[in-house]
Amino acid sequence: MSLHEAVDRIVERGDGSGGEVLQGVVDALEEQVEHYSWVGIYLVEGDDLVLGAWRGPQATEHMRIPVGQGVCGAAAASGSTEIVDDVNADPRYLACFASTRSEIVVPIFHEGRVVGEIDIDSDRPAAFGEDDRAALERIALQIGPYCVSAEASH
Ligand code: SME
Repeated sequence: MSLHEAVDRIVERGDGSGGEVLQGVVDALEEQVEHYSWVGIYLVEGDDLVLGAWRGPQATEHMRIPVGQGVCGAAAASGSTEIVDDVNADPRYLACFASTRSEIVVPIFHEGRVVGEIDIDSDRPAAFGEDDRAALERIALQIGPYCVSAEASH
């Protein structure tokens, strides 16, 4: 099954429980794409991003990130995808894992506002290209409504 088929199935069987859909999506991304080392979805809560679902070898200490801080906060503030080829060369980067070399952050919109974002770390330098951006921006469009229901449920 392709990544998009897997995500389509997870979203189609979503029954309004946003948290389960988001967990299914991070699980599918981390399992199916070899260069995705850690996958998380942050949800916008007021002026902060709060980690909603994640999958990877370790938990991150960055459970809550103010909008505007880090690569995550920059993408939420601008509403544009961020691709960082070398995290150690980006002064905005908030370190989570010693093994991370590159990162992509894709904002998730619902009804015209940023409601969350997909954050992926890779242990490979410059791991993320236009294929990743296109695939993840498509998935972000599908899961916007589930970020709102996940947010409302806690
Ligand atoms: N590196 C991110 C923080 C989140 S961790 O990667 C999970 C950033 O710079 O915003």
